[in-house]
Amino acid sequence: MAQPSSFLLLPLFLFLFLFLQSCPLSTSALPSLAKGTSLSVENPDDVLVSPSRAYSAGFFPVGDNAYGFAIWFSDPPCSGAACTPVWMANREVPVNGRRSTFSLLDSGNLVLTDAGDTGRNVWSSGTSFHSAAELRLNDTGNLVLTNGSRGVLWQSFESPTDTLLPQQPLTRNTFLISARSKYNYSTGFYKLYFDNDNVLRLLFDDPSFSGVYWPFPWLLSSQFGRFLYNSSRIAVLDPLGFFQSSDNCSFYTSDYGVSAMQRRMTLDFDGNLRVYSREPGSTVWKVTWEAISGVPCFIHGVCGNNSLCSYDPAKERRCSCVPGYVRKIPGDWSAGCVPDFTFSDGCVTDEIKFVKLLYVDFYGYDYNPIANTTLEKCQQTCMNQCNCRGFLYRYSTSKPGTFDCFPKIELLNGHNLPSSIGEFFIKVPKNKTFTVDQLVKRTQYSCPPTPEVKVVDMTYSKKGKNGVLNFMLWFACVVGGIEIVVVFLVWFFLIRNQQDVTSAHQSYLLAATGFNRFTYDELKKATRNFSKEIGRGAGGIVYKALLPDDRVAAVKVLSNATTGEADFLAEVSTIGRVNHMNLIEMWGYCAEGKHRLLVYEFMEHGSLAQNLSSPELHWKRRFDIAVGTAKGLAYLHEECLEWVLHCDVKPQNILLDSDYQPKVADFGLSKLMDRGKVTSSDFSRIRGTRGYMAPEWVSNLSITSKVDVYSYGIVMLEVATGISPMTSVHSLESRGDAKQIQLVPWARNKVNELGRTGSRLEEMVDPALKGDYDRKKMEVLIEVALWCVEENKDARPTMSQVVEMLLRHENDG
Ligand SMILES: *[C@@H]1O[C@H](CO)[C@@H](O)[C@H](O)[C@H]1NC(C)=O
Ligand SMILES: *[C@@H]1O[C@H](CO)[C@@H](O)[C@H](O)[C@H]1NC(C)=O
Ligand SMILES: *[C@@H]1O[C@H](CO)[C@@H](O)[C@H](O)[C@H]1NC(C)=O
Ligand SMILES: *[C@@H]1O[C@H](CO)[C@@H](O)[C@H](O)[C@H]1NC(C)=O
Ligand SMILES: *[C@@H]1O[C@H](CO)[C@@H](O)[C@H](O)[C@H]1NC(C)=O
Ligand SMILES: *[C@@H]1O[C@H](CO)[C@@H](O)[C@H](O)[C@H]1NC(C)=O
Ligand SMILES: *[C@@H]1O[C@H](CO)[C@@H](O)[C@H](O)[C@H]1NC(C)=O
Ligand SMILES: *[C@@H]1O[C@H](CO)[C@@H](O)[C@H](O)[C@H]1NC(C)=O
Repeated sequence: MAQPSSFLLLPLFLFLFLFLQSCPLSTSALPSLAKGTSLSVENPDDVLVSPSRAYSAGFFPVGDNAYGFAIWFSDPPCSGAACTPVWMANREVPVNGRRSTFSLLDSGNLVLTDAGDTGRNVWSSGTSFHSAAELRLNDTGNLVLTNGSRGVLWQSFESPTDTLLPQQPLTRNTFLISARSKYNYSTGFYKLYFDNDNVLRLLFDDPSFSGVYWPFPWLLSSQFGRFLYNSSRIAVLDPLGFFQSSDNCSFYTSDYGVSAMQRRMTLDFDGNLRVYSREPGSTVWKVTWEAISGVPCFIHGVCGNNSLCSYDPAKERRCSCVPGYVRKIPGDWSAGCVPDFTFSDGCVTDEIKFVKLLYVDFYGYDYNPIANTTLEKCQQTCMNQCNCRGFLYRYSTSKPGTFDCFPKIELLNGHNLPSSIGEFFIKVPKNKTFTVDQLVKRTQYSCPPTPEVKVVDMTYSKKGKNGVLNFMLWFACVVGGIEIVVVFLVWFFLIRNQQDVTSAHQSYLLAATGFNRFTYDELKKATRNFSKEIGRGAGGIVYKALLPDDRVAAVKVLSNATTGEADFLAEVSTIGRVNHMNLIEMWGYCAEGKHRLLVYEFMEHGSLAQNLSSPELHWKRRFDIAVGTAKGLAYLHEECLEWVLHCDVKPQNILLDSDYQPKVADFGLSKLMDRGKVTSSDFSRIRGTRGYMAPEWVSNLSITSKVDVYSYGIVMLEVATGISPMTSVHSLESRGDAKQIQLVPWARNKVNELGRTGSRLEEMVDPALKGDYDRKKMEVLIEVALWCVEENKDARPTMSQVVEMLLRHENDG
C-alpha cells in the first residue's frame, strides 16, 4: 500500500525542492556579518542585503567556476545580463567555486579566501581593529565595517572599482578604473581621477604609454570650463541625477529628477564615462549622460599601437591596422598591431619607401616638427631618423601658403578623420607592395553613395545597346554579387561575432524596418492630389500627406528630376541611413519615370524661419534650437565621416517638432564629392542661399564642412539678434544704425564695443525677447556664432566643438 503513495510523493518533493531552491522567498539573505563568521561561495543564501533590499553583496560569478565578491542591485534578481556588479573586492583574481569564503576575522580583518587549490587570501581589507563588530550593507550600496554603533572602520565606497553610485564621493584618494572588457572585470586601461591640478580627468594608462583625453588635451583649461584652484577634490552624483565636482564640472542626466531610478556612473571598458539609469525590475540600462559623445575615436588607446580608429553610426567604432602591419593579438584591439616587416635599422635609404594615406592622423608623438618646409625635406628628415615611423605633411594653419612637417616616432591614437587636412606617409620596406584596397578603401567606408553605384548608372543609360556587353556585365555583376555575399558572410561570422552583438542586432533592425518605396499613385492619393503645400524651396515643393498607415508626412516633389535613377537611389539610401534626433527622418521615396519624391516625417511647427518672430520662440527654445541644430550638423560631419555636407543651412531648413526641438532638413541632397578636388565652381550653381553662404563659395577655395559651420553661425546670429542677413540693412535702420552695414561686421563691432562690461548686449539682442534671456548663455551663443563666421575657414570651429562650447554652459544657469 505504501508503494504507490511514495511513488506519487517523490515528484511532489522534487517540485517542492526545486521550488524552494528557485523561489526568492526562500533565500534567508543576511542583514549583517558578525565577527568570526563567514559567507561561503557554495551557499547561495550567503548574501548580505541592505535594509531596503536595494543592494546585495555576495559571491558573483565572473566565469566558469570563478567568483568575485561583489555588490550589485538586487532588483531584478541577479542572473546573466541583468546582473551588474557595482563593486568587486577581487576583480583581478577570481576565486574557486568550491570552499572559498569571505570572512570577518576576530582580528577585525575582512578576508576573501580562495580555498580551491591553495587556501590563500586573495583579498583583505587590511583592517585590524579589535573593536570591529559587524559588516553591513548600507542602503546606498556601501559595504561598511563598523564597531557596532556609528564608528566606520572600513567601507567599500573608499575603494571603488569602475563604478560610482549616487552619494558615493570621488575624492583625492579614490579613482575609477575601467574593466578590461565587457565580460572581463579585471582592471583595464582607463582611469577617472583628480589630477594634480585639481581637475577631474580621464586618462588612458597602458604599461607602455598613457595620455589624458578628457577634457580634450588640446583645449586650455579656460576653454573647457574647469576651475583649477579648488583643492577640495570631491565629486558626487546625487540620487536625482545631478553630478557636481569641485572643479566646476557639473551636469544633469537626461532623466534628471526621476527619483525611483537605479543609477550608476561607470567608466566603461571602452574608455567612455557614462551615467546609466534603470527602473527597478527592468533589465535595460539607459545611458543618460556620457563624457564623450559624437567623437568616440578621440578616446585614446582605443585601437592600440599602429592602428586606426574609425567611426560610423552603422558599424560603430572600428579598428584597422596601418597598411603593412598585422594584429598583435587577434581578438584584442587594445594590443594594437605590429609590423609584418623588419628594417635592418630603419634608415637605410635603399630599403625604405613612403606610402601615402589620406584622411589619417595620429595624435601626439611628434618628433621635432618643422615649419615652412617641402615634402622632399620632410621625407628626408623621416628617412634619416631611424626611429621615425612616418610623418604628417600638411598645410600650415598659422602661416598661410606654407606647409608643416610632423615626423612621428610612434603611431599611436590613430584615427580616420576626414577633416584632417594633411597627408600621412608611413615608412615601409621598398619591396613591399600594397593593394589599392589597403590604401584607399579604408578612407571610404562611411555613409557615402558609393562610387560603384555610379558605375551602374552608366550601364543603365546604355541599356540594350550591346547584347554581348550586356551579358558580360550581367555575368560580372552576378559573380561579383556572389563574391560580395561570400565575403560578407565570412566577415560577418569571423569578425562580426567577436564584436558587440547588440550593434549587429541594431543594424539588422535598421535593415529590416528600412524605409519604403512608394508608388506615385500612393503619394498622389496621400497628398490629396498635391493640394496642401507647406513649403517651397530650391529643391522643390513640399506637401502635407497622410500615409496609408495613418502617419502624417511631408512629401517633397523634386522639381529638377534630372538625376538618373541610380544616382537618386544612392543619395536617398544615404539619407535614409542617417538617424539622429536632430535630423529629419526620411520614411521613403518614390522614383517612377520622371517623378522623384521624398517622404519625410511631418514637423508640427514648420521651420525656424516661420517661427523667428513668433512669441512662442522664447529664449530657452532658441538656445535649445542652437544646441540641437549644432548636434545634428556635428552628426552629419563627424559621425558620417564628413561625406554628408549640408551646404544649405538656413532657417528655412531647420524644422521644429511639437516640442520646438529642431531637426535639420534637406541634408544629403548635395552631391557626393571627391574631397579636396571639389571647388566651388562645381557647386555654386546648386547649393547655398545668399546671405548664409560662406566666402569659399565665391572665391575658388575647396568646399569643406566649414561651409556649414559658417551658415550655422549666420543662422545663430539671426536667432540671437532677430536680424536676417537678407534684410539686415533694413532691420538695422530701425535700431538707429542707419548706415549701409552687414549683419556680421555689425555684430562684430557691437561685441568689440561690449568690452568687459557687456553694457551694449541689449542693443544686439532680438527685441522680440523683451529682455527675457540668460545673459551668460546669450554671450556664449553670440561668441560661438561669430567664431563660426570667421572669413578663414580653418579658423572656424568644427560643429562638435560648437556643441561642446554651447553645452558647457548649458547647466550653468
Ligand atoms: C548609510 O546610509 C545612510 C542613509 O541610507 C546614510 O545616512 C549613512 O551616512 C550611510 N553610512 C555610510 C557609512 O555610508
Ligand atoms: C564606535 O566608534 C564611535 C566613533 O569612533 C565611538 O563613538 C563609539 O564609542 C564606538 N563604539 C564602540 C562600541 O566601540
Ligand atoms: C581578463 O584579462 C586579463 C588581462 O588581460 C587576463 O589576464 C585574464 O585572464 C582575463 N580573464 C578572463 C576571465 O578572461
Ligand atoms: C609600438 O610598436 C612599435 C613597433 O612597431 C614598438 O617599437 C613600440 O615600442 C610600440 N610602442 C608602444 C607604446 O607600444
Ligand atoms: C565655480 O562654481 C562656483 C559656484 O557655482 C562659482 O561661484 C565659481 O565662480 C565657479 N568658478 C569658475 C572658475 O567658474
Ligand atoms: C570647492 O569645491 C567645493 C565642493 O564642491 C565647494 O563647496 C566650494 O565652494 C568650492 N570652492 C570654490 C572656491 O569654488
Ligand atoms: C618659407 O620659406 C621660404 C624659403 O625658405 C621663405 O622664402 C619664405 O619667406 C618662408 N615663408 C614664411 C611664411 O616664413
Ligand atoms: C624584401 O626584402 C627583404 C630584405 O631586404 C627580404 O627579407 C624580403 O623577403 C623581401 N620581401 C619581398 C616580398 O620580396
